[in-house]
Amino acid sequence: MEAAQNSEENTSNPQPQPLSKSAQKKLLKQQKFEAKKAEKKAWMKEQKQRDAERKRKEWEEKLAGLSEDERLKLIDSRKELRRERMEKRSEERGQKIERLTKAKENGQNIVVDLEFSNLMTHSEIHSLVQQIMYCYAVNGRSSVPAHLWLTGCQGEMETQLQRLPGFDKWIIEKEKQSYIQAFSDQKDNLVYLTADSETVLDELDPSKVYIVGGLVDRNRWKGITMKKAEEQAIHTAKLPIGTYMKMSSSQVLTVNQVIEILLKFLETKDWKASFFQVIPQRKRSEADSETCQELDGEECKEDNDESERKKKCIEEPSHD
Ligand SMILES: C[S@@+](CC[C@H](N)C(=O)[O-])C[C@H]1O[C@@H](n2cnc3c(N)ncnc32)[C@H](O)[C@@H]1O
Repeated sequence: MEAAQNSEENTSNPQPQPLSKSAQKKLLKQQKFEAKKAEKKAWMKEQKQRDAERKRKEWEEKLAGLSEDERLKLIDSRKELRRERMEKRSEERGQKIERLTKAKENGQNIVVDLEFSNLMTHSEIHSLVQQIMYCYAVNGRSSVPAHLWLTGCQGEMETQLQRLPGFDKWIIEKEKQSYIQAFSDQKDNLVYLTADSETVLDELDPSKVYIVGGLVDRNRWKGITMKKAEEQAIHTAKLPIGTYMKMSSSQVLTVNQVIEILLKFLETKDWKASFFQVIPQRKRSEADSETCQELDGEECKEDNDESERKKKCIEEPSHD
């Protein structure tokens, strides 16, 4: 009860910092980016419809030029191909469910703290929901998935999450209560991850519960997670970014980047590879971008168009 009160006090005390000129510029840039993204989405939808129509026509023309026998054979082989594809998909889905179910029993606990929704705009909440969706997908594909928790899942946050297709079936813990209550029997194992901590994380300890602040705030709520953890008297730690790479600006990452780094680390036990795979090149200083070119292609995967595109979809442009 006391912990819950602390948590409320903590989120109501800090004052938002007014946006600096450069933050205003970035905000404008993001708005332009969002508008372009919507335009592109509409264009892609039309293009998809045109493609489907073209393929349907081609198929009909192909069938029209065949004898009855050939036509039946072709239809059968297409049905077979579809069946095989569906079988493969359902097999993959089954394996994913198995991995996630096992992670529920003994995977690394990672919490997304959703108690900050009163500090975000509607579109920031939307952005956070997209980031969570992305994290869930990455976790599902991981060979060493984590046991993911959404705590403080209430109000608009919960409403927006519930709108996601299939959210009800996600293999993830959804808690209305705070992590302090959900893990009341192991408070000493809670570690709030925050870029403002003095403690550098060197390993992931399976007995610990790592908490990530569910915030999309362009860092206008500077230090809010550190303050919350201090008030709740729980441990804190920052990612060891500085040990492995130089950043072009601050070391504050987005929720999806932090979780993806943790997931990569669970797979590889290699911070450097995890950072280089997840942190976009534009967030690193030039010297480190060159280092990246010297590493093998696997480690520089974010330069791959597809993965960069996915990240851009859900990430805010940058932090101040
Ligand atoms: C967009 S940041 C929110 C920044 C927010 N102003 C704060 O004070 O935490 C989202 C969350 O990712 C985690 N995070 C971001 N960068 C981190 C870093 N370098 N080390 C550890 N955690 C980090 C923190 O949990 C943070 O709350």
